[in-house]
Amino acid sequence: MSRILTLGAGNMASALLLGMKDKISSFYAFTPSVTKARELSEKMEGKLIEDLKDSPKGLDFIFLAFKPQQFEKASASFKESVNWEELESKPVIVSMLAGTPLAVLKESFSSDRIVRIMPNTPSLVGKAMILVLFGKGVSEEEKERLSEMFSQAGKYYICENEDQFDAATAVTGSGPAYIFEFARQMALYLEEKGLEKKASATLVKQLFTGSSLLMENEDQDFETLRNKVTSKKGVTYEALETFKRGDWQGMTLSALENNFQRSLELRKIALKLEK
Ligand SMILES: NC(=O)c1ccc[n+]([C@@H]2O[C@H](COP(=O)([O-])OP(=O)(O)OC[C@H]3O[C@@H](n4cnc5c(N)ncnc54)[C@H](OP(=O)(O)O)[C@@H]3O)[C@@H](O)[C@H]2O)c1
Repeated sequence: MSRILTLGAGNMASALLLGMKDKISSFYAFTPSVTKARELSEKMEGKLIEDLKDSPKGLDFIFLAFKPQQFEKASASFKESVNWEELESKPVIVSMLAGTPLAVLKESFSSDRIVRIMPNTPSLVGKAMILVLFGKGVSEEEKERLSEMFSQAGKYYICENEDQFDAATAVTGSGPAYIFEFARQMALYLEEKGLEKKASATLVKQLFTGSSLLMENEDQDFETLRNKVTSKKGVTYEALETFKRGDWQGMTLSALENNFQRSLELRKIALKLEK
């Protein structure tokens, strides 16, 4: 069981932390406008921190859950309020900030006791895929405790380095957007064929839910599952051949690579800003 303070209590922090509630013994939340921290601390049966100077001692983990562009201001005001440099035992910093590498966190908090995480929006329904990258100063015991918390909210995967973390982010962090876009396109097709908007959405949602469960429950690879729906020269085959002619696979791979390359750019910008 852990003692946690979150700086920021927006969509992602709420979704993730509520999922981990059972593994948190004491919970504190701070947001500048107070409202969201109050809401989350009530749901978590924790405590609202109105002034960072009142942050409790002996915390295990501090979650950074504000926007990346708020990093410098938010971290500076937190460090000043709690007299960070003078703290005898520093809590582990757990950052969910996109595009903010470990090196930037390390420099800012003068500590290697840092963790990067990348949850995704399915956290909202307890089905998070959380990517994790540990800094060198995090102990085995702390890693275990965090892993236990993350598994309460969904699944987690420990990356070995920043490149792996950013590549996996292109898939699981951004992935829900690709899925929703594909869903939108299929629903649009049904509407164009005369189905009602609501019915079109229901058909597509059930398609994704059912297919996801099938992938999860069947011990078969994606290709085998695909082939089971596809008979040579049949209707599904016709559609898949159309995708192939449009180089769907090539497009997917280059979209993911462009996502990763953008992460590299953001990483460089973050590192330069910090220096
Ligand atoms: N959405 C996603 O899919 C996703 C996925 C993975 C990671 N993330 C990361 O999660 C983080 C939060 O995203 P979000 O979508 O949850 O944002 P959000 O809903 O806009 O929430 C941001 C929170 O940060 C607080 N905040 C602002 N300035 C602060 C400061 N100086 N000190 C402490 N808290 C401060 C805000 O407080 P107020 O309520 O007072 O404004 C608000 O509660 C981002 O860094 C993002 O990169 C998001």
